[in-house]
Amino acid sequence: MFKRITGTKDILPQEVGLWQDIEEKSRKIFSCYNYQEIRPPLIEDALLFNRSLGESTEIVQKQMFLVKNQKELYALRPEGTASVVRAYLENSLDKTTGFVKFYYLGAMFRLERPQKGRFRQFHHIGCEVIGSADPGVDVEVISLADALLESFCIKDYKIKLNTLGCPDDKLALTQALRKALKDKLPRLCDECKERFKTNVLRILDCKEEACLAITRNLNIHEDYLCAGCKTHFLKVKDGLDALGINYEITPHLVRGLDYYTRTVFEISHPDLGAQDALGAGGRYDGLVHELGGPAVGAIGFAFGVERLLLIMDSSAHELIGKDIVYVITLGDEARKESLKLLADLRKNAIIADTDYENKSLKGAMRKANDLKAKYVLIMGDDELKKGTITVKNMASGEQKEVRLEGIIGELKC
Ligand code: HAM
Repeated sequence: MFKRITGTKDILPQEVGLWQDIEEKSRKIFSCYNYQEIRPPLIEDALLFNRSLGESTEIVQKQMFLVKNQKELYALRPEGTASVVRAYLENSLDKTTGFVKFYYLGAMFRLERPQKGRFRQFHHIGCEVIGSADPGVDVEVISLADALLESFCIKDYKIKLNTLGCPDDKLALTQALRKALKDKLPRLCDECKERFKTNVLRILDCKEEACLAITRNLNIHEDYLCAGCKTHFLKVKDGLDALGINYEITPHLVRGLDYYTRTVFEISHPDLGAQDALGAGGRYDGLVHELGGPAVGAIGFAFGVERLLLIMDSSAHELIGKDIVYVITLGDEARKESLKLLADLRKNAIIADTDYENKSLKGAMRKANDLKAKYVLIMGDDELKKGTITVKNMASGEQKEVRLEGIIGELKC
């Protein structure tokens, strides 16, 4: 028997209701903020990600699902930002619309070691705002993330906020870190020894106890920031304060993708365990230019849907009875007639189903119960001759005979 690939998941019908709930709520909130949906392909030129996320990042180094064509190398998208920027430029939106606010929902792929909250195929709910460096957009995007969590009834999350500054500031921070970490190098984990050469900022993000013991004591303050980046960050904080959004300044927050500049944020939840990020995002003011477009600001974030589901109170989302009407027939004539009745019910937007497994009356009633049907309609050959049908209200147990032609009206009121 075939098995699903490690790190992937079957989302079975009893769980799909939750997914649809999250998707519907997200669409509603995104449209209130005037964001439009974009659906880029799931597969892209692999180089798009090398260029956007950075050659030395973990995703590019180890986690891309690569697909070799005869000459080209494709990748299943590990994230959405690079694809959205590519689509923005390829469709000349920089020249026509300029400023855009997009959102997306969909599968992402990373070849990671699976564990709680970490999959190889997972789903993002994300957004990207391209074409502005205004700190007001940072405030809008973070407040939008907050509004989404509120609509999912998620509580106790923490918004960690930091700024990486512009590329010059990032360089200053990198150099300061190199200096501070040089004599501590032998005590860092093997990966961080490598990061010291390729991407020293990522050492701040390492969760290894040995590295944490060193990085926790590093005094990282905003000295490396230029005046413009300091003002930008101040305006972001002021805007969030004005909206009453709680956040925690986290100087060690650097994020794992190279494209970030200035504002970065991560939203964590204590119930998630080791993989505690529900979502994350930030500014990537250099990426549009890096991919061949104009030098415009951009910012976005993405939530991991599987992680949202891990902490949502699933009891609050138990499948709500869908007001199903279940038709049970007794006899051949009734069976034939029931096909017309089912079609009629469905035409009138009533969810209707019947027994296709030749169950006994008792068995069919049990099935109706399992389906949480609101009404059962029992149609027998004798009743058919009289032009009637029996309606049973499953909640009250009340049962009555009504004229067949009046059944739609009876069920609708
Ligand atoms: P990211 O932090 O790599 O950012 O991913 C965002 C979220 O996706 C994470 O916080 C986590 O909830 C979820 N996630 C990541 N990897 C996995 C996995 N293997 N299994 C389950 N969930 C996962 C980005 O991808 C950026 N593109 C976000 C962004 C948008 N920045 C600017 N715009």
